[in-house]
Amino acid sequence: MSQHVYIFDTTLRDGEQSPGVNFNVNEKLEIAKQLARLGVDIIEAGFPVTSRGDFDAVQCIAREVKGVTIAGLARTSQADIDRAWEAVQYAEQPRIHTFIATSNVHMQYKLNMTEEQVIDAVVNGVKHARKYTSDVEFSAEDAFRSDIDFLCRVLEAAVAAGATTVNVPDTVGYATPDEFGRFIHTIQEKVKGIDKIVTSIHCHDDLGLAVANSLSAVREGARQIEGTINGIGERAGNASLEEVVMSLRTRRNLYGLDTRVNTEEIYRTSKMISKLSGMNIQHNKAIVGKNAFAHESGIHQDGVLKERTTYEIMNPAMVGITHTNLVLGKLSGKHAFKDRLVELGYTLEDEDLRKAFSRFKDLADRKKQITDEDLEAIVEEEILTIPSTYELSYLHISSGSTVVPTATVGLKYNEEVSEEASCGNGPVDAICKAVDKMTGIRCRLASWEIDAVTSGKDALGDVTLKITVDEERFYQGRGISTDVLEASARAYVSAVNKMVYEKQKGRG
Ligand code: KIV
Ligand code: ZN
Repeated sequence: MSQHVYIFDTTLRDGEQSPGVNFNVNEKLEIAKQLARLGVDIIEAGFPVTSRGDFDAVQCIAREVKGVTIAGLARTSQADIDRAWEAVQYAEQPRIHTFIATSNVHMQYKLNMTEEQVIDAVVNGVKHARKYTSDVEFSAEDAFRSDIDFLCRVLEAAVAAGATTVNVPDTVGYATPDEFGRFIHTIQEKVKGIDKIVTSIHCHDDLGLAVANSLSAVREGARQIEGTINGIGERAGNASLEEVVMSLRTRRNLYGLDTRVNTEEIYRTSKMISKLSGMNIQHNKAIVGKNAFAHESGIHQDGVLKERTTYEIMNPAMVGITHTNLVLGKLSGKHAFKDRLVELGYTLEDEDLRKAFSRFKDLADRKKQITDEDLEAIVEEEILTIPSTYELSYLHISSGSTVVPTATVGLKYNEEVSEEASCGNGPVDAICKAVDKMTGIRCRLASWEIDAVTSGKDALGDVTLKITVDEERFYQGRGISTDVLEASARAYVSAVNKMVYEKQKGRG
């Protein structure tokens, strides 16, 4: 059996099903390019039949992202499969991923179909997909809660119809590691022809066991693991791919398996997903959390200084964390700034570099020591954003325990700066109302979160917020500044820009 484990990334499909997350086409393309740099084997770019926006994104990724398989999801109906093919056909290596549920509860209440009808749908769907491409994946949704004998019949029918990968999801995150391992073992023993194709697994994290279940499955012969960056996804999310990959790498002595992931790209990918999804990473999250390589107790610090491996099982550099403590300051010039960014892996176009440098200078006036994390935050705020219809020019706040909070905001639109003032329930509310007056769009602030980029009193505040007008679509914005109200204003304006951009593209 092959020692290679295929890594199937579904951040753009299952990950986007996280409540409140929606990526626009540009963001999806940037994410897909980064996933290709990370070295995943398959990118599930979306579910093309569900919306025009999803279709466009999958098609655009298929045309532009090379060196990786691009998959489009489809139910087993011909219309779904045709649409998925229309979108992925331009990829260097296109895949159609078709699925239907196989558990009793799904068949009875959701599909209203009998076992035989489901088997017919599987066979027809897989055969139809095979007319387009030789790379067809079939998933039995809610496989883990399905009757095992029926599931084996379904998988056997899928293999006979031409599926080249069969996926066994634990859709509701119900399995435990021993059980899931045994389950995969039984499937390997019972399903005729399964040894000729790839067995895949797809675990959700409702009990916090998605990564453990995935690792248990590869011990029993599964050779494709599906998951998402940072573990984002429906409900409690999916298996976190960075954890899966680093477990296989760090414990290679145990698993004896390889992936083709370039682990040094993990940290940057994780930051990108966090930023674009608006989902902050918990500080103690394995591999990519802020504290994953931080040593607080004196005994630990002493040990690590003497010999890193006393308390570190992975070298942070392996996942792309290469921070030095003190980098640039007020007197650093554009060259030093640019060189450090290149070392951190960012090569900016002239205009982006100009904007980022100006933000850096501004920050250097307020903060003495600028670290790599500060630089990353600046760059990530400046690049990868959609065109700025509105730009924050200035902000003045009057607030306190005995005064009504008032904000005066200057906003640049079409090269002209206009100004509005507004009162609010608090300073952030006042800022939002002042911005709304100028844009003419009344938004509701659905969520607001703040984090600090580094430690220290002069740390950059990192605000992530979401806004909505119709309570259906939510737009996320992020802003950073040493002043948390300015960070809030920047985040709000960036969310409004996103909304305007989507509306102009007819997707809002
Ligand atoms: O969780 C699940 O079962 C899925 C399938 C569509 C693969 O996401
Ligand atoms: Zn799923």
